[in-house]
Amino acid sequence: MACEQVQAQAPHVVFLAFPTQGHIIPAIQFSNTLASEGFIVTFMCAEQRIAKIRKSQGAELNPSIRLIGLPDNVPLGELRIDEGADSFLLSLRIADNMAPAFEQTVNGLIKDSKESHVPPPLCIISDFFVSWSQDIANKFQIPRYVFYTSPASHLTLVLYLPRLLEQGIVPVAPDARGIVIPGRPPLDGSEMPWDWQQSSPKEVNEFSFRNQLRLHESSGILINTFYELEGEAIDALRTEAINPNKVPIYPLGPILPSWFLKGEPINDEAFPDQTGNECMQWLDAQAPSSVLYVSFGSVAIPTIRQIQEIARGLDASQQAFLWILRLPPSATEATDLPEGFLSRTHSRGLIISTWAPQLLILSHPSTGGFMSHCGWNSILESICSGVPILALPQFAEQFLNSRLVAEQLRVGLKLQRGTDDVAESDEIEIAVRELIQGEEGRAMKKRARALKEEAARVVAEGGSSHTTLNAFVQAATTTHA
Ligand code: UDX
Repeated sequence: MACEQVQAQAPHVVFLAFPTQGHIIPAIQFSNTLASEGFIVTFMCAEQRIAKIRKSQGAELNPSIRLIGLPDNVPLGELRIDEGADSFLLSLRIADNMAPAFEQTVNGLIKDSKESHVPPPLCIISDFFVSWSQDIANKFQIPRYVFYTSPASHLTLVLYLPRLLEQGIVPVAPDARGIVIPGRPPLDGSEMPWDWQQSSPKEVNEFSFRNQLRLHESSGILINTFYELEGEAIDALRTEAINPNKVPIYPLGPILPSWFLKGEPINDEAFPDQTGNECMQWLDAQAPSSVLYVSFGSVAIPTIRQIQEIARGLDASQQAFLWILRLPPSATEATDLPEGFLSRTHSRGLIISTWAPQLLILSHPSTGGFMSHCGWNSILESICSGVPILALPQFAEQFLNSRLVAEQLRVGLKLQRGTDDVAESDEIEIAVRELIQGEEGRAMKKRARALKEEAARVVAEGGSSHTTLNAFVQAATTTHA
């Protein structure tokens, strides 16, 4: 008969992240939350990523988090960190290559625990893109919890994947229409995840299916969302039709630093870097809510044609902008941006070509809108700053996310695309003006601000995500022997 044991020592969890920034950032943040709840966290990822975390976040990490870099067998020069779809394909390979070292390390943690003050790990929390960790959890007879960095509305599709594959709906044909998923309005093929499309690389299709089908075997799914934001989708996730194995669902977001959620003044010492200073000084000189922030996250790089249309649209809009501009490898600002764009917009635009402090930019009072690829972290960060969104999705689940932003939450406008699948400058010019100055923009900002306040409430004592966190801690620290 199963008996319950409650850990007497500090509980220990192993965290395994997928090696791209959009997955690592919330994983580190949630590790900080667990550490402040009294956990020891052994955090693992590819060794080059861990080196980056040590460099950039060392000072902000809770001392109860131990970082371990896993060899990934990808030569250093080959890993072009944060450089578009090629780097994403590389990340898939790296994610799989981490498996042997991960198993060895977990084995070592269990063995060493006899002579150490750190007890054996109670569970593995691992990204939804490293499902091989389920086999390792099974082997060592510890639970695996999935860390889910996309929205609950995406997870409803993913948990329904076995049926969609059975019905031949996925891989998705280019002309597919009216795809029915229980508990949500029908979707067109173009809104389905990029990694499920027939037109996406086979390697990507295969990687997604292999990882996503195994969510049903896990002991629970931790999602970076909150009930007040995605209540309908969260309810759907708990239905028999979507979740026949009744895998526990833990919406405990938004997983973001507390200074950011509380709107506390920024501690400059925590962000000493030069780009940060340049952005802040420039924003300080702009009028309140006047600046459009433009960024496409950590992986996506729009085509050069799209970049040129954005430049023309920003030029014509006459609005101030802060653009994190990463160009495709063969392009340069001097040769590929429209002629005269840089000189004409010099007085009202700042272009940054390196990693920028997005949380600081979004929380600055001068920022009035965000042209975004609709990565889920960016959406949460924008909402939690009360900043409305101009949606220009690029890949992954971003098309689906943009619909959530524009149609359900109504905190953003979706840019329509014309020929060659590109949003054209006229469309961009009008949308930018509307977002920053128009009536609709003001209404969206009001709704975003209401969600920002809600977000601060849900993570505070008694809030829905705080209660879910307690439920997860209870489940994770109560082992069944
Ligand atoms: C992809 C998916 O689209 C997303 O939904 C999933 O959760 C993670 O992978 P990604 O392209 O990484 O997303 O974008 P996003 O989710 O927005 O994450 C990017 C993160 O990097 C954000 O936290 C953002 O603040 C940060 N960032 C990005 C910076 O801090 N500076 C930059 O210059 C660019």
